[in-house]
Amino acid sequence: MFDNIAPKYDFLNHFLSLGIDRVWRKKAIRILSEYHPGQILDVATGTGDFAIAAAQINPKKIIGFDLSEKMLDVGRAKVERLKMSWLIEFQKGDSEAMPFPDKQFDAITVAFGVRNFENLESGLKEFFRVLKPEGVAVILEFSKPKYFPMKQLYHFYFFRILPLIGRMVSKDSSAYSYLPESVMAFPDDQKFLSVLQKVGFSNTKQKRLTFGIATIYLAQK
Ligand SMILES: C[S@@+](CC[C@H](N)C(=O)[O-])C[C@H]1O[C@@H](n2cnc3c(N)ncnc32)[C@H](O)[C@@H]1O
Repeated sequence: MFDNIAPKYDFLNHFLSLGIDRVWRKKAIRILSEYHPGQILDVATGTGDFAIAAAQINPKKIIGFDLSEKMLDVGRAKVERLKMSWLIEFQKGDSEAMPFPDKQFDAITVAFGVRNFENLESGLKEFFRVLKPEGVAVILEFSKPKYFPMKQLYHFYFFRILPLIGRMVSKDSSAYSYLPESVMAFPDDQKFLSVLQKVGFSNTKQKRLTFGIATIYLAQK
């Protein structure tokens, strides 16, 4: 699915979110900056926007990791254009079975990625394994607004408007219906924090953004 929508992914991301996705990524990276990470692994990096945002905090190395070669190709071209190839490297693979040794990274970042994992727990266990002791995971993911009227407005936009525009621009018949469905099915808030704790993370915290449309989760090994 992501191979299919890769050429239009960035445009649709910024258009459908009215640019707010950029603000959310920046906020998450600001939180990460307090930990001064050297080696960062950006899981489900897609076209690399979160990895590029992480470059602002001067890490030594960033690896962007994703299943979709076509999304990575868009990321590679962007990073070359920005002259960041010395810092950001892309690698293809499955985040539920990563080819990295234990305790390699100071930080893991993921934006809008964990929701797509086949098995959330095994993906998060992999995060725990490849992080150094006291390493942090910063996870940005869609969540569900709880209160009137944002909840109702959000449902209308997410289920009626967004799939229509997504289908027209990307020409993919299902990708942008999958998006709201996957958000509804995904554990957010305390439920997500419990999964992080279950796989071994401590100091778990969350910051809800824009009426709860998205949430930044923070967890430490
Ligand atoms: C919605 S995009 C997010 C891209 C990017 N992080 C961003 O902020 O725009 C989700 C990405 O997750 C990737 N993905 C889904 N499951 C994966 C897995 N098991 N391992 C690695 N990447 C995965 C997809 O290929 C896709 O590029």
